[in-house]
Amino acid sequence: MATRDDRGLPRGARAHLFAHAAELNAVAVAAGARDMGLPGALGETAGGAATTREATRPSSGRAGTGVRGGSTHARREKTRAGPAVAWGTLCPLSHPKGNATLHRRKEPHPMPLRLTSTITSAGRLEVRLVDVETRAPGADEVVIRVEASPINPSDLGLLFGPADLSRAKVSGNAGFAVLTAPIPAGLLPAAAARFDVPMAAGNEGAGVVVDAGASDAAQALLGKTVAVLGREMYSQFRVVPADQCLVLPDDATAAEGASCFVNPLTALGFLETMRLEGHSALMHTAAASNLGQMLQRICDADGVGLVNVVRRPEQVTLLRSIGAQYVVDSSAPSFTADLTAALAATRATLAFDAVGGGRLASDILACMEAAAVAREPGFNRYGSSVHKQLYIYGGLDTSPTELRRNFGMAWGVGGWLLTPFLARIGPEAAERLRRRVAAELKTTFASSYAKEISLAEVLDLEHIAVYGRRATGLKYLVNPNKGIG
Ligand SMILES: NC(=O)c1ccc[n+]([C@@H]2O[C@H](COP(=O)([O-])OP(=O)(O)OC[C@H]3O[C@@H](n4cnc5c(N)ncnc54)[C@H](OP(=O)(O)O)[C@@H]3O)[C@@H](O)[C@H]2O)c1
Repeated sequence: MATRDDRGLPRGARAHLFAHAAELNAVAVAAGARDMGLPGALGETAGGAATTREATRPSSGRAGTGVRGGSTHARREKTRAGPAVAWGTLCPLSHPKGNATLHRRKEPHPMPLRLTSTITSAGRLEVRLVDVETRAPGADEVVIRVEASPINPSDLGLLFGPADLSRAKVSGNAGFAVLTAPIPAGLLPAAAARFDVPMAAGNEGAGVVVDAGASDAAQALLGKTVAVLGREMYSQFRVVPADQCLVLPDDATAAEGASCFVNPLTALGFLETMRLEGHSALMHTAAASNLGQMLQRICDADGVGLVNVVRRPEQVTLLRSIGAQYVVDSSAPSFTADLTAALAATRATLAFDAVGGGRLASDILACMEAAAVAREPGFNRYGSSVHKQLYIYGGLDTSPTELRRNFGMAWGVGGWLLTPFLARIGPEAAERLRRRVAAELKTTFASSYAKEISLAEVLDLEHIAVYGRRATGLKYLVNPNKGIG
C-alpha cells in the first residue's frame, strides 16, 4: 500500500500532481485587436454549467509571461520561475462545486488555467483564461489532468452566448488575452440569469487521473485514462467524483475518449426513447453531424430503420459511405417527395431535429402524415390516427420554429435533452449505455476532429471562424495541457 501524507493521500500521487502543476507555464496571447469575419452570432443555447468566480490575472501578470505585440495569434512562452502567489497566501475562492477553492498554498507554483465566459449586464461578452488552484480531492474524488475536450455546439452556446462575433476583438497587452464582443440589445434579456457570472466551459473530456482521495474507488483510478461529463473541462485539472469517471480501455487515448458522453449517449438515447414511446423507426436532421454518424452506425448494428435529412449533396455521399440506406437532401427540389417516400418505407414516426428553426419540423410532420395517410384506407377529416412525434434537441437554426399544422391532429412537438433523459431511465439503464460506449469507443462511437488546439488558441479569432461554424467535419478538440510543461 502506498505511503500517505498528512491528509491520508498517497505521497507519490500528490508529488505527481504538484510536479505537473509546477510545470505549468503562463500562456500569453498577443496584444492587438482586430475584427473578425464571422457572419453573425452563435446562437445555440447551452446546458447549465457550474460557475467559477475567476481570479483574473492582474495586468502586471506573472513575471516572465511572454507577451508579444502586433499579432493576434496565440503564443505560449515558458515562464521563468516566479510565484503567482506568495507562500502562505490565500488563493481566490471559487464556486464550492467547482475545481477551485479557498486553499492555503504550501509551495509557490503557478496555478492551473481555466477558460471562462462572462456576459456582463452592460451587454458585453468576455472570454478569458483565469488562474484557479486545484483543490485537494475529497475521499471519493479524483483529480484529472485534462488532455482532450471537444468543442461541441452546446459548448459554443455557453462560450459565446448570443454575442455578435462579427464584432469580436481580442485584446490584452499583458497577462492573458480577453475576447470581447457585444451582445445585441434584443438578445441581452435572455442571458440575464448569467449576468456578470464567469462560467467555466467544456461539458465533457478525458484525461489521466493524477491524484485521488483515500477511498478504494478513487485510489483504483490513479494513473488511469478516464472520460467524464464533468463540465468545466476547458481546465488543466478537474476534480470530480470517482464514480462519474468512465475508465477507458487500456489502448484508448484521451483524445479517443474525449467525446464519450454527450453525442454517444444522446444517439443511444434516441433509440431508447423510440422503444419507450412505442415507435419502430427514426428520422434525424443535420444527420451528417458527428452525432448523426454515430446514430447511423447504432441503427445499423441494432437493425433500426433510420431516415437521415442533410442539407448538401456531399453529406448524402458521406452518410452513404458509412452504410446509410435513407438519406434525403433538403436542398433538392424533390425534398418533400423524397422524405415522404423514405418515411413510408421505414414507417418512421419519431423525429429528432437538431435544426429547430424555420419550417423543417413542420415539413417533417407533414411528410410523416402523408406517409401515414397513404397506409390508411378511406377519408378521415382529422387526418391519420398515427401519432407523429418530433423532438427538437438542438438549435442550429435559431430562427423561430414555424408549424403550419397540415399534419392532422395526432402529433406532438417537444424538446429533448440528454440530462433529463438519463434521469428518466435511471442509473442502471444509464450505466448500461455507458458500458456500450466504452466497449465500442473506437468503432460505433468514434469521433474525428479537424484540429487539436490549446486553451489559449480557443480565443484565436481565426480558429473561432472555423470551429464556430459548427460545420460537418470541423469539430475541434481542446487539449488544456497542450504546450504546457
Ligand atoms: N439535446 C441534447 O441533449 C443534445 C446532446 C448532444 C448534441 N446535441 C445537438 O446535436 C447537434 C449535433 O451535434 P454535433 O456535435 O454532432 O455537431 P457537429 O458534428 O458539429 O455537426 C453539426 C452539423 O450541423 C449542420 N448544421 C449546422 N448548422 C445547420 C443549420 N442551420 N441547418 C442545418 N444543418 C446545420 C452541419 O452541416 P453543414 O456542414 O452543412 O453546416 C453539421 O453537419 C447539435 O445541434 C447539438 O447541440 C443535443
